[in-house]
Amino acid sequence: MTPRITSLANPTVKAVRALHLRKERDATGLFVAEGLKTVTEGLELGHAPQILLYGPQADHPLLRKAIAATTTAGGEAIEVTEAILAKVSRRDNPQAVVGVFRQVFRPLDTLEPQAAVCWVALHRVRDPGNLGTIVRTADAAGCGAVILVGECCDPYSVEAVRATMGSIFAVPLTRASEAEFAAWRSQWPGSVVGALLSATVDYRAAAYQTPSLLLMGNEQQGLPPEMAGLCDVNVKIPMRGRADSLNLAVATGVMIYAATG
Ligand SMILES: C[S@@+](CC[C@H](N)C(=O)[O-])C[C@H]1O[C@@H](n2cnc3c(N)ncnc32)[C@H](O)[C@@H]1O
Repeated sequence: MTPRITSLANPTVKAVRALHLRKERDATGLFVAEGLKTVTEGLELGHAPQILLYGPQADHPLLRKAIAATTTAGGEAIEVTEAILAKVSRRDNPQAVVGVFRQVFRPLDTLEPQAAVCWVALHRVRDPGNLGTIVRTADAAGCGAVILVGECCDPYSVEAVRATMGSIFAVPLTRASEAEFAAWRSQWPGSVVGALLSATVDYRAAAYQTPSLLLMGNEQQGLPPEMAGLCDVNVKIPMRGRADSLNLAVATGVMIYAATG
């Protein structure tokens, strides 16, 4: 028998709601993942929730498994009301299951370039939806990691995690300053390829030496010269209509599949 909470004033409910704030996520090292599919994905990849909230109507073999795994790992599994789930998710039609998990960032120097054909570095990514979509695409294509260079949005925000559709648990995430990235990149054994609107080389014409490290620019400013200068080659995806650029997540998807064949 797991506990049941009905009050929005309950301290656990308040603590989970507070994880919508980056300050609180940074302070606790925790994040919220919504939905039974995403929670199950986490469990299958060895991440047990510290807190599992589920709705009164929720009943599924995978939920029972998630409840058991949560309590076995020392976490709390709690039945809550629909109103609490809606507040926790900030949605009228919330998912019936919400998990609170520990964030994981891999140190840059623990990445093993030969472990994957393609790696993705994002310079100052701002939009959580773009970041989540890129993590999902990196997972789909078997990329080694997504490396966040410079000041980036939080991959563990609720919006970014939603956009990953469960891939948040599958793709290693790494953070680096511009200087750390530049030093690490100098040891890179394959090609470092920048996606740059002013480049003259077509993205299909470049030689992608495995492992490829793709460097993508910020949504507004693009790749600044000092970052483009770290690349072996900068490439452009042809823009044939009136649009002057692709959305960052779309451009990253095109580049990843060019690099992985
Ligand atoms: C929305 S774009 C940035 C647009 C920005 N105004 C600029 O001048 O670069 C975000 C990132 O996606 C990549 N990107 C978008 N369209 C691209 C294209 N046609 N060729 C190469 N990279 C592209 C680049 O890395 C770019 O920095």
